[in-house]
Amino acid sequence: GSAWIVSRTARAPSNIAVIKYWGKRDEDLILPLNSSISVTLDPNDLSATTTVSTSPDFDADRLWLNDKEVSLSSHRYVSCLKELRDRATDVKDEKTGIVITKEDWKHLKLHIVSKNNFPTAAGLASSAAGFACLVFTVAELMGIKESFPGELSTIARRGSGSACRSLHGGFVKWEMGKRADGKDSIAVPLAEHHEWDDLRIVICVVSSRQKEVSSTSGMQESVQTSPLLHYRAKEVVPKRITEMEEALSKRDFSSFAKLTCADSNQFHATCLDTSPPIFYMNDTSRRIIGLVERWNKSEGSPQAAYTFDAGPNAVIFVPQKSGGALLHRLLYEFPPPEGMNLSSYVVGSTELLEA
Ligand code: PMV
Repeated sequence: GSAWIVSRTARAPSNIAVIKYWGKRDEDLILPLNSSISVTLDPNDLSATTTVSTSPDFDADRLWLNDKEVSLSSHRYVSCLKELRDRATDVKDEKTGIVITKEDWKHLKLHIVSKNNFPTAAGLASSAAGFACLVFTVAELMGIKESFPGELSTIARRGSGSACRSLHGGFVKWEMGKRADGKDSIAVPLAEHHEWDDLRIVICVVSSRQKEVSSTSGMQESVQTSPLLHYRAKEVVPKRITEMEEALSKRDFSSFAKLTCADSNQFHATCLDTSPPIFYMNDTSRRIIGLVERWNKSEGSPQAAYTFDAGPNAVIFVPQKSGGALLHRLLYEFPPPEGMNLSSYVVGSTELLEA
């Protein structure tokens, strides 16, 4: 036969929420109980790289994640791939001259190879980078153009809610939307990160082990059992979203820092309010909170802001001028062994600090 293969490769960064998404109002469509705001990281730091190939020789859709084959049978993969195939167009591959029609895509199978450059499922939003990258790369391969702004984000959202925010750089808002079909539950860019270019992000990898409670089941349990979650989604987050947008547009670090820390703490309080309680942070996480809080208090105004997603790792925001002072404090609190390469610094046996 005339065997051929057509591929596309793309990279998508991870994102870190500063106003958290926690809880769905629709499990199938992944519609959130509240809007959220995140910052997309630099792809050189934390990202997923995905290659998607198609060939008439492939007899099934298959996925390899960090060199291990993973089943595509879960609902999230099935819905993303279906939404993408429904939008596939006629494409001509420049390199090979191969023409693939809209009709062909219904039958052609995909081989997807994806790699993260950071620990998977340790609360560093690996699913966000992974699904954003999968959706973007398949859309490129199938020649999909958005029919309304944010359409691709509605597909990435079906893979992992937070993934919709990784399709834009800088600060991004995921609008919860009002519709039952989810068409208005999209990610919108707020401000480019380079517009706030003296803001630095330090990630303290406290543990690279897999988290114990997945965000999916954690959220379900919180929705079912935590009164605080429902109060937060209705009474607290809408106001914080407005305040955060204002802080971002003014580059007001002090308000940004207060909102970011308060929202991380309320998210983890919600986890504790869940039955049975969920603990994502550990003692090292809490030592990092203490360090930042003491520093902020002693200076009389926020010098740095911390946030933790569904895991123990800390993400610290700091204006560039205070970056050196922050690293100094972190290294004083967690002294590295002599001669240690600080980019992969391990504290004790399971703890790791990266800057
Ligand atoms: O998108 P998921 O299902 O991985 O959930 C993400 C949840 C948090 O990271 C804790 C918060 C967020 O908004 O990213």
